[in-house]
Amino acid sequence: MKILLTGGLGYIGSHTAVELIQNGYEVVIVDNLSNSKIEVLNKIELITGILPKFYQKDVCDQHALQEIFEENKDIEAIIHFAGFKAVGESCLEPLKYYKNNIGSTLSLLNVMEKYNCKNFIYSSSATVYAVSEIMPLYEDSPLGASNPYGRTKLFNEEILKDYQTAHPDFNVIILRYFNPIGAHESGLIGEDPNGIPNNLMPYICKVAVGEFDHLKIFGNDYNTKDGTGVRDYIHVVDLAIGHAKALEKLTDGDVGLKIYNLGTGVGYSVLDIVNTFNKVNGNLVKYEFVSRRPGDIAICYASPKKAENELGFKATRNLEDMCKSSYEYQKNNH
Ligand code: NAD
Ligand code: UD1
Repeated sequence: MKILLTGGLGYIGSHTAVELIQNGYEVVIVDNLSNSKIEVLNKIELITGILPKFYQKDVCDQHALQEIFEENKDIEAIIHFAGFKAVGESCLEPLKYYKNNIGSTLSLLNVMEKYNCKNFIYSSSATVYAVSEIMPLYEDSPLGASNPYGRTKLFNEEILKDYQTAHPDFNVIILRYFNPIGAHESGLIGEDPNGIPNNLMPYICKVAVGEFDHLKIFGNDYNTKDGTGVRDYIHVVDLAIGHAKALEKLTDGDVGLKIYNLGTGVGYSVLDIVNTFNKVNGNLVKYEFVSRRPGDIAICYASPKKAENELGFKATRNLEDMCKSSYEYQKNNH
């Protein structure tokens, strides 16, 4: 079965490509390399023994998408990873985010309709949930994004709902990822952000290899067990497996529109992460406490039950695996 991955050379897309190829799918990738490197394609081949067909094209470009479909008329499903994801940048350049993140979804839906492709998986985020003190977050918890990036995720969900209502034979699975970290066990693919990382694990890894002196922990006065922020970290390989499970359900038949959290249901604090990282990799990461990061919340974690019950998906990799594999990849890419 042929599957098109948009943004398939990115962090989550590349791990999903590996997982799908290893499950016997034929993977086609379209990526404009705006936040990834072409070498990832060869790494996917090194891991799986198969070089996926690759198009260096912009997903917003409908003509380019049509050419891809002309050459691959048997694409059964699309997994739409492509998009920009930096919250801070989205506040400074909202139009860039609306254009790319919404524009790419609209182009894809238009071209899918023309080529009668009816199966779609969308990369959404925990960021679509309204700020709440009630945890865990269920798929039907209140929604409300608090920055332009989050709004593009929320708007895309709404667009997909409207589209599916108008086309009842169209199947959509929306996956809301919590905090993906970790890397493939080969150490060949992982997260490689440009510039200064905004997110916790990439920053820790750069401290560990000496690119930065120490980690700044944003706040130690939250109402949590140790005062630092708590999140639901999920190993990116588990996340990739979640996509394989979603794909099975999607192509099995009449799905309509379904939404699933992909998380573990367990919250770890920033100090849990740093301490585990130091325990498994050697005492490499120093830290200081600084003031809270604006917009951050104290605690966020998923209920993973719906994905477990309906997709048969349960994350199995633990925090030690996440810390070890993140560092392994960082060392190889330093
Ligand atoms: P990433 O930046 O590593 O991957 C995205 C890929 O899409 C990159 O390879 C980039 O070059 C490509 N791309 C961007 N715009 C494109 C376009 N118009 N045409 C073609 N290619 C384009 O990001 P990621 O972490 O792998 O995230 C994948 C998806 O998951 C994104 O939609 C993101 O919003 C969502 N998500 C990520 C996280 C996370 O923490 N990483 C959490 C929740 C949701
Ligand atoms: C980020 C995104 C959010 C996305 C989520 C899941 C931002 C601002 N938000 O949020 O949109 O849905 O990932 O992918 O990017 N921390 C530090 N020091 C650092 C970096 C982070 O102490 O240098 C702390 C944060 O305060 C937080 C925790 O580490 O408590 C995790 O931060 P981060 O990795 O940025 O993820 P989220 O805040 O969950």
